[in-house]
Amino acid sequence: MERLDKFLSASGAGTRSQVKELLKAGRVTVDGTVERDPGRKVDPERQSVCLDGEPLGGRRRVVLMLNKPAGFVTATSDARERTVMELLPPEYKHLDLNPVGRLDKETEGLLLFTNDGALLHRLISPRQEVPKVYYARHEGTASREDAEAFAQGLLLRDGTKCLPAILEPLGPGESRITVREGKYHQVRRMMAARGMPVEYLQRQREGALELGTLALGACRELSEEEIRALEQTQVGISPGI
Ligand code: URA
Repeated sequence: MERLDKFLSASGAGTRSQVKELLKAGRVTVDGTVERDPGRKVDPERQSVCLDGEPLGGRRRVVLMLNKPAGFVTATSDARERTVMELLPPEYKHLDLNPVGRLDKETEGLLLFTNDGALLHRLISPRQEVPKVYYARHEGTASREDAEAFAQGLLLRDGTKCLPAILEPLGPGESRITVREGKYHQVRRMMAARGMPVEYLQRQREGALELGTLALGACRELSEEEIRALEQTQVGISPGI
């Protein structure tokens, strides 16, 4: 049993305050009878809860893409730092969303959230090796030797061995990097290992999904088609990665 207002907002009917208004307006029925009490206990497994006559099937699956700004930690809560959860619009606050993987506090760009546990697991599982593409501004200029070292699988300064990755020099102090694992500070450590400390880092792509023109700090829901494409992301996408 759970509170009716909680169930309604977890089902995507709106924020707690929007749900209160829906109830007040008599738009919600429980087993066919109008219910106005937000605290009424319901059992969604056994009872039929409808909004404007349409049955609510429980918490809807949501996958959100955020263009994360620098200065926010990827965590659901933190005692000292601002978290990425603060960037989600209020209508998503009650949907039990979790960040998919992590971006460092200072890294910007594509960060996904979902309330679908199976999809979350699939996307963060190291076995899935979903390719992730980053844009970096850094000291120095990447050379062909640097690109070859990335392709071979870099050895980091602490002895950690990386999987083969792609380094594409874009110009002086600018590169595109594609990795298919998510070690702590992975890209920053890889670039540092080649003497090119990163000054700015942005994730631009994850599997088939592109950040595109989404504004910094903004988020959008993925379509069912985009979610399907994500689910079908193949292990170890070619070429060479
Ligand atoms: N690699 C990093 O170093 N930082 C990130 O946030 C993501 C990948």
